[in-house]
Amino acid sequence: MREKITELFQRQLEQIKDFSLRESVIDIWVTAAEKGGWAPQDLENIPFTLLTETLGINLYEHTIAVTEGALGMAQAILKTYRTVPFDINMDWLIAGGLLHDVGKLLEICMSPQGKYQKSHQGQCARHPISGAILAAQAGLPDEIINIIACHAKEGEGRPKRIETVLIHQADFAVFDPMVMIEKGHLIT
Ligand SMILES: [Fe+2]
Repeated sequence: MREKITELFQRQLEQIKDFSLRESVIDIWVTAAEKGGWAPQDLENIPFTLLTETLGINLYEHTIAVTEGALGMAQAILKTYRTVPFDINMDWLIAGGLLHDVGKLLEICMSPQGKYQKSHQGQCARHPISGAILAAQAGLPDEIINIIACHAKEGEGRPKRIETVLIHQADFAVFDPMVMIEKGHLIT
């Protein structure tokens, strides 16, 4: 499992400068995958959401797209503004991006009929909560816990780090078009 996760996220993991944070991100993915009862090859298939038709886009592809999208926005701000009014911690941004949906490995399960569905654990706590708990148990900084806990509707109206805002916006930028396709609202 560890090799599979390291391979899937290699390009993003390499950009985390703090080596122990990089290892913690991998550890948390391994822990969540094992707790969720998934095998390494399952990571190729787990959908990124149960809320809309995913058209074959899986959780790891979504995770990379969100992380890279947020990274691109951060770089656009840093290279454009003469004065940047906040600090953007790139390590926290990348780690938070890679972990924002890790709780979905617990929130989603496979039914006896082979269908992806909400797990009992997912009914008790959505992925921002279960992911934040995993990150806290691994000793990650509170700021990364803010990214995971507040990236979705749980964060509406709550205080957030800039990295949380960027992950939230990247997440919805890649999620909303999928919902729009389903509703016939995406102009093609
Ligand atoms: Fe997401």
